[in-house]
Amino acid sequence: MIDYVLNALLGYILGSLPWGLIVGYLATGRDIRESGSGKTGTTNVLRTAGKVPAVIVMVLDIAKGAVPALVGRYVFDSNEVAAVGAGAAIVGHVWPVFAGFRGGRGVASTYGGILGLAPGISLLFPLIGAVLVGATRYVSFMSVVGVPICAAIICGLAIAGKTDPAFAWYALFATALVEYKHIPNIRRLLNGTEPRIGQGGDRPA
Ligand code: G3P
Repeated sequence: MIDYVLNALLGYILGSLPWGLIVGYLATGRDIRESGSGKTGTTNVLRTAGKVPAVIVMVLDIAKGAVPALVGRYVFDSNEVAAVGAGAAIVGHVWPVFAGFRGGRGVASTYGGILGLAPGISLLFPLIGAVLVGATRYVSFMSVVGVPICAAIICGLAIAGKTDPAFAWYALFATALVEYKHIPNIRRLLNGTEPRIGQGGDRPA
């Protein structure tokens, strides 16, 4: 039991590291939560601070999910502990204790968790994301549609006995959280006001 608690704490603390806020501040001198969507994720860093800061934040946010997953698998030797740590990292990213509980929408951290839990499977997902963004130019559409597609693939593999069911539970949890955090984006996608990549626009929440 203690291993679950320790890895959950590790995941939450790592997830709470507000890289978007820090890198965004270093790049612009401002709190990026005051601009664009008000979030600390890669998309809002791209929108408010530019490409290089966005790539840096994406890598660091992916690492936040991957590290507790790897610690769970290789230090605690448990896929379940790994899945709990990776799930806690998404919670930390979305509600970061180090940034007033105002973080991002959890997509990069979700992917980081999959990368750490099931590296082989994870290689397919950037391809799915690239197709969805390439076809629509909406990052949020990629998140809202792509994360459940990836979760469905992981669940299918788990049912077929090709991957650990703990990873499927992680994917379902992450999907629920990501969809919940994208409710404002879903509304804007439906009413046609969601900006595409390269378009700015202040859209708090
Ligand atoms: O991963 C976040 C993305 O799907 C939407 O971000 O800042 O446009 O709300 P944002």
